Amino acid sequence: MFMRDILKMGDPRLLRVAKPVKEFDTDALHALVSDMEQAMFAAHGVGIAAPQIGEDWQVVIFGTGQPNVRYPEAQIIPKTVLINPVLEPLTEITEDGWEGCLSVPGMRGLVPRCTRLKYSGFDIKGQRIEREVSDFHARVVQHECDHLIGILYPMRIKDMTQFGFVEVLFPNLDPGSDD
Ligand code: NI
Repeated sequence: MFMRDILKMGDPRLLRVAKPVKEFDTDALHALVSDMEQAMFAAHGVGIAAPQIGEDWQVVIFGTGQPNVRYPEAQIIPKTVLINPVLEPLTEITEDGWEGCLSVPGMRGLVPRCTRLKYSGFDIKGQRIEREVSDFHARVVQHECDHLIGILYPMRIKDMTQFGFVEVLFPNLDPGSDD
């Protein structure tokens, strides 16, 4: 089966500001989302953004509705396709949490994120989505939507001593995936 490559940090295509989707429920949009899902599931990711497969559109997918092998203790996030997203923080409180990224394989960093926010946007058919979320769900949405404005999580790390290779930071962690 043909599988799209996930771009890695250093590729300038990850630094672009993605374009809003104008037409919904098209064959091209369904194909894009299906390619993103394949790439995300193959890498056991919790989310992926279109720019990570080189597509310059405001499309992110995240959540599986099931526990994730990379973050087994985390909240279960419903499977979501979110297009043209808008995020509104609902608190000034931030919390540090470990993040990885399919575009930064093998590494983790401690990233401060807003703990509660509202997100809105559209699903693949153009139906409006609006949710208030917190904690891990809020973190995942912020991480994925950052990809749409050319930001990778290492750019959000405040304390660079808390950034490194998974096997060094967490020697007891079951690898479970190639990221
Ligand atoms: Ni990422």
